[in-house]
Amino acid sequence: MNEKFPEHFLFGGAIAANQVEGAYLTDGKGLSTSDIQPYGVLGEVVDRAEADITNIKDIAIDFYHRYPQDIALFAEMGFTCLRLSIAWTRIFPNGDDEVPNEEGLAYYDALFDELARHNIQPLVTLSHYEMPYALVKNYGGWAGREVIGFFEKYARTVFARYQHKVKLWLTFNEINVSLHAPLTGVGLSGTPTQNEVYQAIHHQLVASSKAVRACHDMIPDAKIGNMLLGAMLYPLTCDPQDVMQTHIQNHEWLFFGDVQARGYYPGYMARFFVDNGITLNITDDDLSSLKETVDFISFSYYMTGCVSTDEEEKEKASGNMLNMIANPYLQSSQWGWQIDPIGLRYILNVLYDRYQKPLFIVENGLGARDTLDDNGDINDDYRINYLNDHLVQVAEAIKDGVDMMGYTSWGPIDLVSASTAQMSKRYGFIYVDRDDNGNGTLERRKKKSFNWYKEVISTRGANLK
Ligand code: BG6
Repeated sequence: MNEKFPEHFLFGGAIAANQVEGAYLTDGKGLSTSDIQPYGVLGEVVDRAEADITNIKDIAIDFYHRYPQDIALFAEMGFTCLRLSIAWTRIFPNGDDEVPNEEGLAYYDALFDELARHNIQPLVTLSHYEMPYALVKNYGGWAGREVIGFFEKYARTVFARYQHKVKLWLTFNEINVSLHAPLTGVGLSGTPTQNEVYQAIHHQLVASSKAVRACHDMIPDAKIGNMLLGAMLYPLTCDPQDVMQTHIQNHEWLFFGDVQARGYYPGYMARFFVDNGITLNITDDDLSSLKETVDFISFSYYMTGCVSTDEEEKEKASGNMLNMIANPYLQSSQWGWQIDPIGLRYILNVLYDRYQKPLFIVENGLGARDTLDDNGDINDDYRINYLNDHLVQVAEAIKDGVDMMGYTSWGPIDLVSASTAQMSKRYGFIYVDRDDNGNGTLERRKKKSFNWYKEVISTRGANLK
């Protein structure tokens, strides 16, 4: 058998609390920034105290109550790992509470126990696209330096509680997203200045390094990583101006990895701050905290894009979140995300060359509309093809010598989209009966890709083409 992935390689799926759990005020949970964004990461913000709104994430896919059944399905596919996040607001509903909420802590205890029963290792993100909304209102989100301490306390609380159950951790999901979605990333409302965004990012980077330190001290046999939105850019042409501009724009996201993996601000950022008139308040204590670096690098990978210095080309790209210019050699998903399997091998090589730390792909997948045929079957060959082609490239990267920890596909069960809050943008191997208006029974149904992924895992990729 032509096994493509080594024994220790973890295989599974990735979900986030705010996109699956629902139960948004159950058992003492507080409101999060996700709860006030009913239209997704880029949508309008609604203060729930003032408006009676329905947010599809209030129920999401009701994973809060249905997790035993869902985990059993993941186990049936042979998952050895499930990436999930803890909702900070279940543990500290307001972020600055004196004592943690026992009901929230008990919930994740039960969830981790259920995973252990199925020999599925949890990979836990401390903050995935949400923070307590009270911290936004009372401290200005991550603009407030106090929030570093609140986050560290939260991290220490969950490390202490789950130290025997969770040995793999991540700090902030897609930490570079703050440049594009400041409320989701760093809890800044309105239209903050670039200076305010980078100051808040600085506080978050310090908080991340303090969590890394706490994890190293408290759970010495655990590993903790960062998490980047892997948005690799190519030059649209070989014009040296385009090549240089691409290099500069790739620094926008690599900067986060550089700080978290190397322990200090890279030289190119000093220039960026001067050129853009940005002055940050960075203390000696901050600089010393940043020296505690992550054990591994994790990232999401969905697409690549292009950069051009041509004004007409730039015009075409305005409007999409990452300002990417379309690559004429690539096809797009139904949501316009450019599909680039070879780009995954490329980014793996770039990140490994750069950091020489193990890599973990913690999100990858195809958001697509699914339809049920007359027999109620979902023949999602498009999803199988997408994942097959990406996994083939992961295997190539392993042959290139890249040290890989594992692969968790995004949304192994259909969930609410982060960017648009749609249910119809489906990623799962498991279909959930719920539409964009919240109608449906929430019944779970296996898609064709369910058995395909099961075979990928059981054959360690020997069935990939
Ligand atoms: C990543 C996020 O950006 O992409 C996930 O970490 C998100 O939370 C995923 O769901 C896919 O994006 P979307 O908008 O299709 O849900």
